[in-house]
Amino acid sequence: MSPKQRAANAALAYVTPGMRLGLGTGSTAALFVEALGARVQEGLKLRCVATSRATHAQATALGIDVTTLDELPELDLTIDGADEIDPALQLIKGGGGALLREKIVAAASHAMLVISDDSKLVSRLGRFPLPVEVNVFGLGATLKRLESVMTRHGAHKSMGLRRNADGSNFVTDGGHLIVDCAFGAIADAGALSEDLFAIPGVVEHGLFLGLAKRALIGHADRTSEILATVA
Ligand code: A5P
Repeated sequence: MSPKQRAANAALAYVTPGMRLGLGTGSTAALFVEALGARVQEGLKLRCVATSRATHAQATALGIDVTTLDELPELDLTIDGADEIDPALQLIKGGGGALLREKIVAAASHAMLVISDDSKLVSRLGRFPLPVEVNVFGLGATLKRLESVMTRHGAHKSMGLRRNADGSNFVTDGGHLIVDCAFGAIADAGALSEDLFAIPGVVEHGLFLGLAKRALIGHADRTSEILATVA
């Protein structure tokens, strides 16, 4: 069994009947949704909210009851993957481009459970390029301000507009663009978050700070667990 599959399967233990559940996006979240679908087909009843069109399509095809956050504005738990996880359970997310909806859903949940393989564990965030979701309007001005934030916070400053395989711009479910910003190492994620939000064209960024309470990490031979050390 793959490490991602181990983490996804272990997460089923946190799902209880009648729960209001947020469903994440990405390959690990998709494995969890698949396993959840099997439980639903066996009779498990719960209501879910998806963090992307892709997850919505997958879950509904499996017979999972998926509604909107407007219908269900408060959730018990969100289960989602991550691109980087530090020891305090600060995360980088958005490798799949769903960071805005993922953060809205996680913030509407009483708890967030991260599922991942052990390749995502880092001592400090920043090796994975931080996805920053930006408005299409005024892109040039936004990129200029992003560059100066990178100079202030990063050892490196390489950033690029995310593109599809055919060279066209990657467009998020919300109709925005993504700029991937490689910092190398992020010394102060909280200060970086504030500086990014001070740029008017920035819609959201992939730093998930203080949201995850627990992570299930799949290894080649076992699953381990990390609990948040901060409230
Ligand atoms: C989607 O936008 C992301 O936040 C994913 O949760 C993250 O990229 C992890 O993806 P994998 O589970 O595919 O590694």
